[in-house]
Amino acid sequence: MQIFLDTADVKEIRELATLGLVDGVTTNPSLIAKEGRPFREIVAEILSIVDGPISLEVVGTEAPGMLVEARELAKLHKNVVVKIPLIAEGLKAVKQLSQEGIKTNVTLCFSACQALLAAKAGATYISPFVGRLDDISVVGMDLVRQIVAIYENYNYATFVLAASLRSPIHFVDAALAGAHVCTLPPAVLRQLIKHPLTDIGLERFLADWKKVPTDR
Ligand code: E4P
Repeated sequence: MQIFLDTADVKEIRELATLGLVDGVTTNPSLIAKEGRPFREIVAEILSIVDGPISLEVVGTEAPGMLVEARELAKLHKNVVVKIPLIAEGLKAVKQLSQEGIKTNVTLCFSACQALLAAKAGATYISPFVGRLDDISVVGMDLVRQIVAIYENYNYATFVLAASLRSPIHFVDAALAGAHVCTLPPAVLRQLIKHPLTDIGLERFLADWKKVPTDR
């Protein structure tokens, strides 16, 4: 299971990367906008912190424009993965980019049909948005399960990247479903580490240790 951070907050990325558990980063236009800084500046910093797949999204909606953006983004660094929205024009772009050897992350996936088409087009990653489906009373994790099963049926090489994850339960369920990658907001990654019984247990061990007589 690979863990990506779903943020463009460089301070958070720098801090959490010290855990040694962050394999990559995903961004999107909303996350970039939240930072209030120029795109390229943020991207250069992220690329210098994490040596793994870094997803950067195109904003064009027609295949020719997406291709121009994607080629420019891919030139920035070998770790760049170009995020392409799951629309017909996006699938055309993904097909072409896969022939050029440019890695893609097909985003805004909300159905198994869409995921199958993305794999057929040669996507490197597919991003089912679990939380946004939950938001409309559809069990988002069912989609992850379906995609994993379909890709296994046909031996597609596309990695399933569970996205829009909002809690540790999402993380565990995605792992049980066989997702290859989970992209997590920083706060959720921190939650994964914490358990109250660990804190209480450690506190007791340290308190008891103080009662141990010294050797001399
Ligand atoms: C995925 O790559 C997206 O950036 C992200 O997971 C969307 O999450 P949200 O639905 O919480 O905005």
